[in-house]
Amino acid sequence: MRPFLVVQAVMWATALASQCPMAGSPGFTSRDSIHRNNQRDTSPIADFTAIKREIAVLLKDSKDWWPADFGNYGPFMIRLAWHCSGSHRVSDGRGGCDGARIRKVPEYAWDDNTNLDKAVKLLQPVKDAHPEITWADLIILTGNVAIESMGGPKLGFCAGRTDDADGSASLVLGPTPEQEALSPCKLNGNCTSPFGPTTVGLIYVNPEGHLGNPDPALSAVDVRDTFSRMGFNDLETVALIGGGHAFGKTHGACTTGPGPNPIQSPDAPWPGTCGAGPLKGKGNNTYTSGFEGAWTRDPTEWSSEYFYNLLSYDWIKFTGPGGKNQWMPSNKDAPPIRMLTADIALLYDTEYRKIVETFGQHPEQLDKAFADAWYKLTTADMGQRFRCINADAPPAQPFQHPLPAPPAKRAEVKDVMAKINQTLFKPFPQIEGDIVDNNNAAYYGAQFIDLAYQCASTFRATDYKGGCNGARIRYWPESGWPANAGLDQVRQVLQPVKDSFGETLTWSDLIVLAGDTALSYATGGKLSLKIVNGRSDAYDGNQSLDFPPRQYYSNADIEVTDNMAVMGLSPHDAVALAGRPRSGVEQKRRGLLGAYSKSSLLSNTYYKLLLSETWEPTASNPKVFESKEKPGLFMLATDVALLSNPQLKAIVQEYAQDEAKFFNDFASAWNYLMHADLPITESASSDP
Ligand code: HEM
Repeated sequence: MRPFLVVQAVMWATALASQCPMAGSPGFTSRDSIHRNNQRDTSPIADFTAIKREIAVLLKDSKDWWPADFGNYGPFMIRLAWHCSGSHRVSDGRGGCDGARIRKVPEYAWDDNTNLDKAVKLLQPVKDAHPEITWADLIILTGNVAIESMGGPKLGFCAGRTDDADGSASLVLGPTPEQEALSPCKLNGNCTSPFGPTTVGLIYVNPEGHLGNPDPALSAVDVRDTFSRMGFNDLETVALIGGGHAFGKTHGACTTGPGPNPIQSPDAPWPGTCGAGPLKGKGNNTYTSGFEGAWTRDPTEWSSEYFYNLLSYDWIKFTGPGGKNQWMPSNKDAPPIRMLTADIALLYDTEYRKIVETFGQHPEQLDKAFADAWYKLTTADMGQRFRCINADAPPAQPFQHPLPAPPAKRAEVKDVMAKINQTLFKPFPQIEGDIVDNNNAAYYGAQFIDLAYQCASTFRATDYKGGCNGARIRYWPESGWPANAGLDQVRQVLQPVKDSFGETLTWSDLIVLAGDTALSYATGGKLSLKIVNGRSDAYDGNQSLDFPPRQYYSNADIEVTDNMAVMGLSPHDAVALAGRPRSGVEQKRRGLLGAYSKSSLLSNTYYKLLLSETWEPTASNPKVFESKEKPGLFMLATDVALLSNPQLKAIVQEYAQDEAKFFNDFASAWNYLMHADLPITESASSDP
C-alpha cells in the first residue's frame, strides 16, 4: 500500500465532489462516436400540437397521384409507423423508428415496405413546413394522430427521435452480407435470434403462413417467435395485430406485382402494374402485398370488430385476386371481409385464442392493451423516460425501465471513495485478492474495475437500455451471466462500505465509485475522471431481460466490432477500454486461465505485450490465447482480435508508443460508459 497515493486520491475526489464535469473529459458531450450517445437533442422543440392539426388535415386530403382508400390515409400511415418501428429487436437493441431509416435504402427498398415511399412523400409538406421536427418523430406522431382521428385509444407521445444520415445502421438487419456475417440464418424460416424475424427478407411474419404455407397453427409459432424477439408478450401481440387490423385493407388487385423497387427504379419506385389508364397501379388497382380486402366493415373506425369477426365466422381458404392464399367467411351472406393466415393463426393457438375471446367480449380491455402496446412498439427503442424531450410525454412505462428515486440524502462522494480506498488493500476472509508488487498484499483494484465495467457495459447505444444505474447486476439474470461469474464475491468485499453508509449510498453508485477509486489508484490520480453520484437501485433484475448478453458471436473479430457498435464506442474507446486492468483472479473464476499481467496498475503494457508476443490459442480453451515466448501469459481471443482489424491495430500501436494518449482516451471512454445511462445533467435523477 502506498499511503501517499491514497491521500492524493481522496483529495482529488474531494475536488470532484461538486459533480462538475472535469475540464478535459474529452468527447463526453460531443463525442464523434459512430453511434449515438445519450445526449439530448438541443434543437428547438417543435410545436407538436400545431403539427398534429396539420397532420389531421393531411390524412383526409386525398391526392390524385395516390388516392386515399376510403378517403383517409390514416390506415396507410399506421402501417408506415408500424413498419418503421417493428424492426426493433431485443437481442441487440437494433432497429426501430429512431433514426427514421425507413426513408433510406436498404429499409426503403424492403419488399415489406412496398409503397411506403408514397406515405413518406405525403408527409413531405409537413416536414418542409416544420424542419424542427425530425422525420422519425413525424412518422410516429402521424401514426398516433391517425389512430386518434379514427377513434382509437391513446397513451401519448414521446418525442426525441433523431434522423440518421443514411440507412447503413439497418444493413445488419438483412438480407445483406453484413447480416450474414453477424447473424447467419442456418435454415430460412427458422432463423434464430439475434436475427429479428424467422425468415430472411421479412420485417416480421409472412402473412401467408410459414414460408408461404397457409397453415394457421404453424403461422402461430412464427407470430409468437417473432413478436417475442420484438419484446412483446401474448397479450401485447394479439392487441397489436387485431388493433392494427381494425384499420385499413390489404392491396393485391392483380397478379403482376408492384413493379420495380427503389433500388431498381429510384425515381418512381413501385409504380404499380395492375389496371390501365390514369388509375393504373393506384386506388383500386394498387398492388402492395398481393393480398386484397379489409378485415372489418368500417376500416376507418376504431372497434373490436376484428375479434368479433374472427370468432363469428367459419373461415375458409381461397386464392385472392393477387394470386395469394387468403381467408374469407364460408357463409355467402357474410360481409366481404378477409383475413390473412397470420390473423387466423390467433384462433389456432390456445393462449392467443383466449385473448381473442377476451378482447371480443371486453372492448375496454382491448383499448387499454392496444394503447399500451402501441406506445411500447413506437417508443421501446428510445431508452428511458427522461429521453422524451416533450414535457407532456406519458409517465415512465415498464419498458422504459423506471427506477426508484435516488436517496434524498446522499453520502459524500469523497467519504465513500476514502472508505473504498481502505478496502482496496484489506484482506477479506475467504476472498482471494489480486497480488501486486510481489509483497503478497491483497489488492482488489482490478476486481473493482471489473465489477464497474461489467455493470456499466450492458449499456446499448442502439436503444439506450442497460447501464449500471439500477445495479441490476446484483440480481438474476445478470448475476448468472457467465461473464459476471465471481462478481458477487467482489461485492462482498464492498459490503462493509455499503453498510457504513446505509441508505445514503446505493449499490449502483458504490459499484461505479469503486471502479473510479481503483482507477485513480492505478494511475496515481492521473486520469481525468468524471465522478457522479445519484444513481438508484432497482428492486429486482427483470429489466435486464430486455438487454440479454450477446453470446451468439461466431468469432472474436465480429464480437469486438459488434460490441463496439452496440455500446456506442468509437474505435479509440474500444481499444482503450480493452487495456483496463484485468484481474487474473476474476478471470479464473470465469473458467479462464488467467490474465496478461499480475500488475493491476493502468499502463500501456497491455498494448506492448499484444504486439511483442506470438499469441496462440490454448488447447483447453480456444477463447484463451497464450504467449509462445512467455508461457503463463494469457490474452483472450477478443484481445488478439484487435490485431486482425487494421484500424484497431493502428490504435494498439499508437497506445503502445504513447501512454499519455492512452490515459487520455481511456478516461474519455470510461467516463462515457459509466454515465451513458444517465441524463446529460451530470447527476442522475429518477423517472417521474
Ligand atoms: C396492412 C400483415 C401486424 C397494421 C397489412 C397488410 C399485410 C399485413 C399483408 C397489407 C399491406 C397492403 O397490401 O397494403 C401483417 C402481419 C402482421 C401484421 C402478418 C403480424 C402478424 C400489424 C400490426 C399493425 C398492423 C402490429 C399495427 C399495430 C396494419 C394496417 C394495415 C396493415 C393499419 C393497413 C394499411 C393500409 O390500409 O394501407 N398488414 N400485419 N399490422 N397492417 Fe398489418
